[in-house]
Amino acid sequence: MGSDCPGVAIRWPRGAQMQEAPLSDSNRIADPRLRDRIMDAEAAAARIENGATIGMSGFTGSGYPKAVPLALARRIEAEHAAGRPFQVRIWTGASTGPELDGALAKAGGIEYRLPYNSDPVAREKINAGEMDYVDLHLSQVAPMARQGFLGPLDTAVIEVSGITEDGALIPSSSMGNNKTWLEQARQVILEVNRWQSPALDGMHDIYYGTALPPHRKPIPLVHPDDRIGQRHFRCDPDKIVAVVETDAPDRNAPFSPPDAVAHAIAGHLLDFFAHEVKQGRLPPELLPLQSGVGNVTNAVMLGLIEAPFENLTAYTEVVQDGMLDLMDAGKLRFASATALSLSPEKAQWFNTQADRFRDKLILRPQEISNHPELIRRLGCLAMNGLIEADIYGSVNSTHIMGSRIQNGIGGSGDFARNAYVSIFMSPSVAKGGKISTIVPKVSHTDHIGQDVQVLVTEQGLADLRGLDPKRRAQKIIGTCAHPDFRPALQDYYDRARRTSFGMHAPCLPDEALSWHTRYIQTGSMRP
Ligand code: COA
Repeated sequence: MGSDCPGVAIRWPRGAQMQEAPLSDSNRIADPRLRDRIMDAEAAAARIENGATIGMSGFTGSGYPKAVPLALARRIEAEHAAGRPFQVRIWTGASTGPELDGALAKAGGIEYRLPYNSDPVAREKINAGEMDYVDLHLSQVAPMARQGFLGPLDTAVIEVSGITEDGALIPSSSMGNNKTWLEQARQVILEVNRWQSPALDGMHDIYYGTALPPHRKPIPLVHPDDRIGQRHFRCDPDKIVAVVETDAPDRNAPFSPPDAVAHAIAGHLLDFFAHEVKQGRLPPELLPLQSGVGNVTNAVMLGLIEAPFENLTAYTEVVQDGMLDLMDAGKLRFASATALSLSPEKAQWFNTQADRFRDKLILRPQEISNHPELIRRLGCLAMNGLIEADIYGSVNSTHIMGSRIQNGIGGSGDFARNAYVSIFMSPSVAKGGKISTIVPKVSHTDHIGQDVQVLVTEQGLADLRGLDPKRRAQKIIGTCAHPDFRPALQDYYDRARRTSFGMHAPCLPDEALSWHTRYIQTGSMRP
């Protein structure tokens, strides 16, 4: 059942079930030492000081604390009403839910936030310049926290699904940076959420062998289903100052059912995989899949249900609805991730079925799920969404019109740079056709052209591998751009080829961002 000893990988025997009985549903807090620390959320939140840095659990709408942040937001509102300042600095795994980012942002209580956010209220505050936001590669957050330049971590607020008799913490539906927050924080507040399925116990693999240079050792994971760590978190019981009981669902946004555009994107991608298998560049069971956040990536997973690939595996960051469906259809043999990121309906369903997934799913700390060494070794097929791409294949995943943050880079950089094939996909137009997602030049760059090997829209798939910039441009314009915008892109490129300062990647600097300027001024990129 896993190994405490870094350096030894244990593979689950196929079909074998965890031997130990899962957590008893009747007693979620089994450690008698913690009984006198059980309190309500208000009392727990009272232990947090103005200006504190708090490491919260939570990753893509799952496993985040649901009661203490709400109580903290009420406290902040009361302090503000009394004319006293009160703000905190929040670190998480990734995005959380309305009870955390939403409530604290609404209260004006977040001074600083990292490393990923998708909450609309927090997004508005960031874009209004009222909240500092540091958008980071998700694999790098835990090592950065350990390096110390982010400052000390005062409090960890971590959702768990239970506490064993000897004080081990049973993780919930996401792992994120919880291991690191529990290690680094001066004090720990736990939320024990009865809503989380007891069958989650045993699905986690927590590797305790990471270190900072010069003490780093190879991470002994060579297959997506290797177990290299422990099933429970360790935490010094003396640091635990409060235990709060909750019974509240993870709240994630529902997925839209795949439309014709998503179907077309999925179709192009599946044809590409079939072609690569035929050419002998991919094995018939493909390579471990990484599927990013969003509706389109979810649609690709659903498309794989009908595709002729069997025994698939995933080494990914999040398991969205489509991946569970793929598993349920018997196509996906195993998935390793750091979080479930399920629609409310699917999350309820999973809670009644979780036992069936105990030998098919591992959740790991995000430092491991997104680790460049492991992604490169496993040869992941990385599939991520984008805001816009330019004619040379640079990708903007984060900033609308170059300045308004949407969510953040998340793990897309971890995977894109290190994948065996790095794929980005998107509809070719946004906002009802007023915006072309293929532009002369991206208004913000998250992924440089070297990290973007395949670009897909509903119009087609551009395989950019091995192409020089001029051929990349021609391929992207001809294959991925929407027909309404193709002539204007071609015209820009043709003129750039005549007058550019250099001819390696022809560019007209004065004009390159004019499409964005036009949208900001007129509400449309159309001439
Ligand atoms: N210009 C302006 N707005 C754009 C746009 C563009 N080029 N492209 C998309 N948008 C808008 C959409 O209209 C939508 O706006 P709305 O919320 O007001 O309706 C919003 O951006 C999100 O677009 P949508 O098409 O719903 O995207 P999605 O759900 O497929 O997500 C990303 C796309 C890029 C936002 C998402 O993939 C992301 O956050 N990526 C970065 C993180 C990541 O990749 N993580 C995975 C790593 S494992």
